[in-house]
Amino acid sequence: MRLDKFICKSTELTRSEAKKLLKSGEVRVNGEVAKNPAMQVHENNSIDIDGQFLTARQSRYFMLHKVTDTICSNVDEVYPSVLHFLEVDKAFDLHIAGRLDADTTGLVLITDDGRWSHNVISPKKDCQKVYRVWLRNPITVEKSAELIEKFAQGIQLQGESSLTKPAVLTLVTDTDVDNEVLLTITEGKYHQVKRMFAAIGNRVIGLHREQIGEIKLDDLAPGEWRPLTDKEVNLFTS
Ligand code: URA
Repeated sequence: MRLDKFICKSTELTRSEAKKLLKSGEVRVNGEVAKNPAMQVHENNSIDIDGQFLTARQSRYFMLHKVTDTICSNVDEVYPSVLHFLEVDKAFDLHIAGRLDADTTGLVLITDDGRWSHNVISPKKDCQKVYRVWLRNPITVEKSAELIEKFAQGIQLQGESSLTKPAVLTLVTDTDVDNEVLLTITEGKYHQVKRMFAAIGNRVIGLHREQIGEIKLDDLAPGEWRPLTDKEVNLFTS
């Protein structure tokens, strides 16, 4: 972790106050004065401010049921950040592990543990994300086997050099036509679900993320949040 971030995590200082402190030469790492805010430090480094040794606060982990017209960003844009929903200290020091579009609802994981969010997001980790998708054009039973196979083989998205990784398409009802499906993917390319359906000539009209790995959006109402349990956190600790 960066030294300025470590100082923020272990004191009440803001990032700019931490940088000022570093400039003043009062911070030492393993006994040596450290002035570079970007210096990488670990929990086993001993870091002190004028002889007062610092211990980083425990990392924090939350789930939130995102509503539409909010964004997964640390800055507000046309829509406000989802971080406004979290009634916790220094919510904007946290980050979102896997963004959703402004018009997408559902499960969002929020933390300040970069290694943990990497395990959630990195395509190399093969973490499954389950989306409930509402489509403009219903999928007919006759067409479904072919489409399921196509998603399993990988879809060629516009502007991408390789196919998407194998995805699992599941029809939700047993009716003749189905415009509500579940899609499980292990990547998080820009607008991936919408682009996958666009590539087969359909259009997503509603999108909701239900699950990330084994973590399910349980009965949280839209806009509600809760801390993750230790068991949930440990699913992505490596
Ligand atoms: N895929 C999309 O197209 N949008 C999202 O918000 C998430 C996945």
